[in-house]
Amino acid sequence: MKFFVDTAEIADIRELAEAGLIDGVTTNPSLIAKSGRDFREVVAEICKETDGPVSAEVTALDAPGMIREGKSLLEIGKNIAVKVPLTLEGLKACRALTGEGHMVNVTLCFNANQALLAAKAGASFISPFLGRLDDNGIDGMELVEEIRQIYDNFGFDTEIIAASVRTINHVKYAALAGCDIATVPPAILKSLVKHPLTDKGIEQFMADWKKTGQKIL
Ligand code: G3P
Repeated sequence: MKFFVDTAEIADIRELAEAGLIDGVTTNPSLIAKSGRDFREVVAEICKETDGPVSAEVTALDAPGMIREGKSLLEIGKNIAVKVPLTLEGLKACRALTGEGHMVNVTLCFNANQALLAAKAGASFISPFLGRLDDNGIDGMELVEEIRQIYDNFGFDTEIIAASVRTINHVKYAALAGCDIATVPPAILKSLVKHPLTDKGIEQFMADWKKTGQKIL
């Protein structure tokens, strides 16, 4: 499974990229607002940090407007994936942009039929929002399992991005369900490495090593 990092914070992207943990980046208007930075400037910087897809979201609500905005976003970097909402207008924009060979991430997916339509519209990526479904008492993992099955049934090559990831278990179950990608907030991505027995083991090894009085360098 590939990891995208769901953030507009350059320092986090850089740190995770150093560990080889990042295959791409996703942003949305809320993450841009949180960064407090100029949209184009921050997206351009992100594009320099990774060769993988960088999702940048349109804000127009009609297809012609989304296409115009999408084309403008595509000028920011060669690895831009235009992010459009899962509406009929979004699907029209998706079809037009992917038809011209551009990457499109269809976002705000909350059921399997929406995901089926996005694949039909030629989406490069579909983003089901696990955490927001869980917030509403619906099991987000069931949705990604359904999407995986539908896409496999018909050989759609739209990649499934587990999005709105809130917990380390979301990441594990997304991998078990066969999601192609999980887009994960930096804090959760960093916490995946942690285990108390790893920390305890390091402590023990360091204590024993000290007793030897030796140094490696
Ligand atoms: O990947 C989509 C994500 O940014 C939304 O997450 O936590 O706002 O539902 P959240």
